[in-house]
Amino acid sequence: MTDTVPYYEDFMEIKKKIWSMLDNAVKDRISPFRTPVFICGDQSDLDGRIVVLRKSDQSNNIVQYHSDIRSDKIEKLKANKNAAMLFYDKDEKIQVRLKVECIINHKNDITKESWSKTQHISRKCYLVDNGPGTESDIPTSGLKPELDNFDYTKEQSEEGYKNFTVIQCKIKSIEWLYLAAKGHRRAKFNLENNKDTWLVP
Ligand SMILES: Cc1cc2nc3c(=O)[nH]c(=O)nc-3n(C[C@H](O)[C@H](O)[C@H](O)COP(=O)(O)O)c2cc1C
Repeated sequence: MTDTVPYYEDFMEIKKKIWSMLDNAVKDRISPFRTPVFICGDQSDLDGRIVVLRKSDQSNNIVQYHSDIRSDKIEKLKANKNAAMLFYDKDEKIQVRLKVECIINHKNDITKESWSKTQHISRKCYLVDNGPGTESDIPTSGLKPELDNFDYTKEQSEEGYKNFTVIQCKIKSIEWLYLAAKGHRRAKFNLENNKDTWLVP
């Protein structure tokens, strides 16, 4: 980068910045990039939801998050693996949109590795009797009372593994938007053919 070109007008520097924000979000609980919106579905039924970013792997162009195999989005992803992710950092004034192809991991080496790193309290999500989205006659967490109170052992939490799923999102393209008082900047990075393009914001 030369002195005259600011970082936001240099494709390489922008990509570096995006990946550093994604990498940081995996570690930093308060990073705005930690909780992107994940959107999937088909032409007549698209839906978005917040997820927690659990891994960012630039060498393979993958980001991933955890879910419950019984979630509605799993069937949607089996029918259509194409999805989108949306991130926004207000302080950085950066929006990032990813187009991805999803790989559903269940009871394999990827889930084993991620499950071993999950915290005791996070395992609670996977211990609900019925899957996310199941209708109930009463307001409910879906958990038995002892589980609601975190009154379960590590061994008992292992029961959740059968529901634990890792969604790997293979990034096809990244779209970056930077808001600047002197004029916004927008760029698209096609990771499938390595083409970088400036766009009018
Ligand atoms: C802060 C926050 C973090 C969440 N993290 C996840 C997550 O990592 N994975 C997930 O499947 N759902 C997560 N959820 C719940 C989803 O937004 C959604 O309500 C749930 O997955 C059920 O909807 P779905 O089956 O259509 O995805 C999170 C919600 C919030 C508010």
